[in-house]
Amino acid sequence: MSEPADAGPGSPHRVKVWDPIVRLSHWSFVVLIPAMWWTAENSEWGWHKRLGLVLLGILTLRVLWGFVGPRTARFADFLRTPGTVLAYFRGESGAGAPRAGHNPAGGYSTLALLLVMLAQVSMGLFAGDPFDGMTGPLRPLVGVMTADTITEVHETFFYVVLAFVVLHIAAIIFYEAIKREHLVGGMITGSRAVPPGEEGIGALPVARALAAVLLAGGFAWWIAQGAPPLT
Ligand code: HEM
Repeated sequence: MSEPADAGPGSPHRVKVWDPIVRLSHWSFVVLIPAMWWTAENSEWGWHKRLGLVLLGILTLRVLWGFVGPRTARFADFLRTPGTVLAYFRGESGAGAPRAGHNPAGGYSTLALLLVMLAQVSMGLFAGDPFDGMTGPLRPLVGVMTADTITEVHETFFYVVLAFVVLHIAAIIFYEAIKREHLVGGMITGSRAVPPGEEGIGALPVARALAAVLLAGGFAWWIAQGAPPLT
């Protein structure tokens, strides 16, 4: 179903909803999560570690962006009150969908996906056995028994990440096919049709974006070095 490109008063209009950092980080998750699985299954530990550190950098960037990015990227914008989420599920009008940004359910699903990916990557940093394959860069900071336990949980927790991803994709298919809300196009192009009165976001705040990329990249690099003392 095509959406009107623009509009007169009272009809939906297209606005910019997702900035390039949200979109690029999203589509890199889509590439990196299967790549992390594949490299582990095929014992490509060098790549598993490198891509894991890239994923750490991108997750860090997305978390920073949740505080300093444009409105729709911010946690404060999309983590709505439990009352709003319940009203949304009950289908009460005005409870949030469609709007320029995550709907009340999508906001918490975003938080959950980011948290499970962060948990998985963080465990990977401490995982591994130096006599059998690769170790995470922070492995020397914990004892052998702790590292063994973390490694086991890291392996099993992948299925938790997978479950959240499957749920997420099922929800997107439900919105596209049943509710006729075209979310995927928005995550690709950055724009979607929203009801009158809803405002989109402006141009990318380049200086803030650069600062966030440098900070996130610097953090991932520091972790890759084994988190050496900074003084
Ligand atoms: C490894 C797989 C995936 C992960 C980890 C993932 C993760 C995420 C996260 C964290 C967000 C929130 C975006 C943000 O605010 O930063 C999101 C949103 C979204 N994802 Fe995914 N995603 C995955 C796969 C997919 C796939 C395969 C599609 C569709 C083909 C998809 C479509 C979307 C859409 C449309 C949104 C925006 C939802 C909205 O409008 O509120 N995702 N995803």
